[in-house]
Amino acid sequence: MNAGIDAISFYTSRYYLDLKTLGHARGVDPAKYTKGLGQEKMGVVPPDEDIVTLGASAAKPLMDRTRMEDIELLLFATESGIDQSKAAGLFVHGLLGLSPRCRVVELKEACYAGTAALRLAASLMARTPGKKALVIASDIARYELGSPGEPTQGCGAVAMLVCANPAILALDEEAGFHAEDVMDFWRPNYRDEALVDGKYSTRVYLQTAVNCWTQYGERSGRKPEDFARFCYHLPFTQMARKAHAQILRASGGPTDAETVARGIQEGLGYNRVTGNTYSASLYEGLASLLDGCEADLAGHRLGFFSYGSGSMGEFFSGVVQPGYQQHLLTQHHRKLLESRTELSFQAYEDIFNLKVPTDGWDYVFAQYCTGPYRFGGVGGHKRRYEEVS
Ligand code: CAA
Repeated sequence: MNAGIDAISFYTSRYYLDLKTLGHARGVDPAKYTKGLGQEKMGVVPPDEDIVTLGASAAKPLMDRTRMEDIELLLFATESGIDQSKAAGLFVHGLLGLSPRCRVVELKEACYAGTAALRLAASLMARTPGKKALVIASDIARYELGSPGEPTQGCGAVAMLVCANPAILALDEEAGFHAEDVMDFWRPNYRDEALVDGKYSTRVYLQTAVNCWTQYGERSGRKPEDFARFCYHLPFTQMARKAHAQILRASGGPTDAETVARGIQEGLGYNRVTGNTYSASLYEGLASLLDGCEADLAGHRLGFFSYGSGSMGEFFSGVVQPGYQQHLLTQHHRKLLESRTELSFQAYEDIFNLKVPTDGWDYVFAQYCTGPYRFGGVGGHKRRYEEVS
């Protein structure tokens, strides 16, 4: 199969909280967050942004790079669903003005759904040369105030165009996967915040990474030295260090800090300043790697570990394509991250605690700084989205 990622775009909200501010407010040594978890800032989503506006804003820059009528599939991956029935992707379809001749569906399996969407899109597009799929992974990571998960919150979306003969990354056929019915992290329908058995979740993540890598190795015959870099699902960046060390250990290779860092370092930069973006985080890591790696990765193989609590994991790989640099949105991503507004602790808590009425009557949101789209309000139980002029 020669199909994969033709274009990749990342978007996060225009606001963040510095984790040093959070540490001081919670009476926690900020080094626990910056060194222990490996996080500096967390993206905070204002009331007038949600997974639809995050996803549509990620996808918008890609629309200039393709003919709308060539997009015949839109897969929207999220675990921050806004409706039990209607796919969030249909709101995005409307905002972007995509062709009616486009299948649209929403996928869920915690943070793994973005990978399910990418792999599904690639196998369909391999059979329809000239056509494209738009894959969007969009999430808002939200834990209870004061809980251990709080410093790992974040928000963001990644949009990818997927097609045959892609310009950026051609996916390999081989994959290793592992599914298991566990309760490490979940969010019942009646809750806004995730529940998590934090330490257990990290153990399941690590064991799943080794299981997936082992099966991938059996199928492909590849070893760690066959990869230029690895990207991991990033609930926080130290998780990737632990997982990469486990995979190297399972392969009998060196696991010193320098070797581990060499394999993953450039992929951690964006997550470190946005926090967890759940289904988008692996692909945010890929954007960070491609934008930030000084070495030319063309012709080199990248390894990916995707993890969704509950749990589902997959290790897969792809080969970076010649000339990929010309297809990146590096400056756009950097400007986006540099131009965010820092929130005070009080402003962060006020946004977190804002309760939107659920009676379905007219509700209009105050206007915050957003990307090209905003969630304007609700009327008659219908969500209303707007373009920002
Ligand atoms: N200076 C430097 N480091 C410090 C420190 C200090 N003052 N204080 C503590 N640390 C270190 C600790 O030693 C620890 O490092 P190690 O893991 O290497 O031992 C690290 O900081 C974290 O400290 P704790 O383990 O004490 O932290 P915690 O128990 O309060 O919370 C957590 C950690 C359980 C991961 C929590 O952040 C959490 O529940 N997060 C949400 C769940 C999650 O992200 N799980 C990840 C796997 S599941 C998944 O990946 C799906 C998903 O997206 C959610």
